[in-house]
Amino acid sequence: MISKETIDKVFELARVEEVIADFVVLKKSGANYKGLSPFTNEKTPSFIVSPAKQIWKDFSSGKGGNVIAFLMEHEHFNYPESIKYIANKYNIEIVETNNFPENIEKKNEIESLFIINKFAVSSFKENLNKEVSDSLEYLMNRGLSKKIIDDFDLGFCLPNRSSFYQSAKTKGFKDSYLEKTGLIIFNEEKVIDRFRDRVIFPIKSLSGRVLGFGGRTTISSKKTAKYINSPESEIYNKSKILYGIYESRQSIVKDDLCILVEGYMDVLQFHENGIKNVLASSGTSLTEDQITLISRLTSNIVLLFDGDTAGVNAALRSTDMILEKGLNVKICSFPEGEDPDSYVKDNKKDKTLDFINNNSKDFIEFKLSFYNEDLKDEDKKVDVIKSVIKSISKIPDRLKQEVYIKKCSQIIDIDESTLFNSLNSTEKNNSRITRNRRISKNNDLSIVKKEKNIKPHNYFYELEKQIITILLKYGENEITYEDTILSHSENGDIKEEKKNIKSKVFEKIFLDLQQDEIELAHPPFQKIYKKLIELYNNQNKFVFEKFVNELDSDLSKIASDILIFDEKYSLHDWEKRNIYVKKIGSELSQLVNETLLNMRRYLIDERIKKLQEINIDKNKDELLQEVMRYSRLKKVLSSKLNRVV
Ligand code: UTP
Ligand code: MN
Repeated sequence: MISKETIDKVFELARVEEVIADFVVLKKSGANYKGLSPFTNEKTPSFIVSPAKQIWKDFSSGKGGNVIAFLMEHEHFNYPESIKYIANKYNIEIVETNNFPENIEKKNEIESLFIINKFAVSSFKENLNKEVSDSLEYLMNRGLSKKIIDDFDLGFCLPNRSSFYQSAKTKGFKDSYLEKTGLIIFNEEKVIDRFRDRVIFPIKSLSGRVLGFGGRTTISSKKTAKYINSPESEIYNKSKILYGIYESRQSIVKDDLCILVEGYMDVLQFHENGIKNVLASSGTSLTEDQITLISRLTSNIVLLFDGDTAGVNAALRSTDMILEKGLNVKICSFPEGEDPDSYVKDNKKDKTLDFINNNSKDFIEFKLSFYNEDLKDEDKKVDVIKSVIKSISKIPDRLKQEVYIKKCSQIIDIDESTLFNSLNSTEKNNSRITRNRRISKNNDLSIVKKEKNIKPHNYFYELEKQIITILLKYGENEITYEDTILSHSENGDIKEEKKNIKSKVFEKIFLDLQQDEIELAHPPFQKIYKKLIELYNNQNKFVFEKFVNELDSDLSKIASDILIFDEKYSLHDWEKRNIYVKKIGSELSQLVNETLLNMRRYLIDERIKKLQEINIDKNKDELLQEVMRYSRLKKVLSSKLNRVV
């Protein structure tokens, strides 16, 4: 783990505008900076960085947050990776805690493997450029430019038995680590390089670290395998990575689409021709982890493959897996004898994109056209339909399922309701299967809780947001408000006395909500609320940046959203949403009061609505009385708010 001191130092020294400027061209605009969103293809800048608050907001994608959130969104780093990136940038020493000897050893080992791979890349690149072979010529003949060759760090390994091993030894790398990278094979006292006389394709992680290699021979001979690849290792897990992820990640996000191909050369050739949202499964069938990796960038996938049977079968398998993960998939097969590499090389960007657009089928069209012959045979037709229904049953979204059932019904001319029935029974089957699987696994039949469906912009959401905003901005300010105090007078009567009370904003809000047993309904607000109250209660000096930095990234996004948004639109937006508040500055205590009153009024309204919905089986009078009581209460509140009920 990275030590707290290191993290503190990172937050202390990092300037959000400096970190972002490495990725986005920023121009000063008032107190803020502005630039083109790195997450969409916008033409007018709506990406804003606030140096004062140390946060950013992208109005075109809705994303925003602190400096860490930016690196996580843009570079797809995780939290520690982001901290390390900044530490590096600002020359901050990274101190780690939890350094048990075995942890250090493991970490050192993993770091060593990365260092060796990095060294290998540079030495292979050097070979390629030294023209010790015709490997560079080979790549150029295949249509790749020096730029793409360089961007992808392509290289060449020498034909000698162990020239890489020799050069690695001069660097002092340990044999055991060299073996673990898979670059060197040790057997019976012989040491040989795994890759010899091959063009090298480094396989990188999302953050650009080299995990393993692919190597292609430049001679066509049946005797040697066309490609060989690094074996799995501590750092290379084939089923979790896709070739091109580092180089294509930004374009996949921007285009909101991932084109999936089979081979290294397909990816390179697409990039060469300006299509950059492309990844390769490197000839193996797609795995769940790989789909998860893509889903971090987009939920739309187009599968490109050559039209032979092996290709089709692989595509069909992948399709069901992608649907199951809730992503959208289209399938595009290439003409016999062509692969994406050859097609784009001959036809260039626009024609290739046209081809993909015109020939992409959703899985229903694809299955039905693939089994076209079978559809003419009544018996086989049933199997085809069943297989389509099975794919539909994998889709988690009911609405999407309906769309596909309709489509299927149109194409094969079968009644929708028949198809729905079939879907329902398939789904029952599916759930029985997964349930059995679950039982056999851990004997646990727990029902997965449905996520609460929260409409983001209802009135109550806005009210809660307003509470959080007030707490964030004015929590420690002092307000004076009038309160009625009940006391016993000398003669024993109960006396009502109006008193001006002074308190801090956060105290007033906290006490009022507690008194009415009101809990914020939206979990993110709940969490921020709890944190804020805690912080104010402990009388810590409230520093917004520090507070935001200590929140989880999704909460920090909400908190910074509130402040940036608030700055831009002030309270007009709330007024539009029918929440009448006096402008901040005129009277803070009034704002606090009105917000709390509005909240109560809303909750009472809800309560009345609920009571009116209850059926007559409850005592009618009792019910009526309750409604009346609430209505009276509402009236009192409304009069306090100076409003007609
Ligand atoms: P292909 O045989 O389609 O190769 O295999 P390709 O990409 O068209 O390569 P070129 O154009 O002949 O250079 C697709 C992918 O399958 C893996 C590689 O990842 C390759 O890119 N593969 C193929 C292997 O791992 N080993 C092999 O022997 C062949
Ligand atoms: Mn090819």
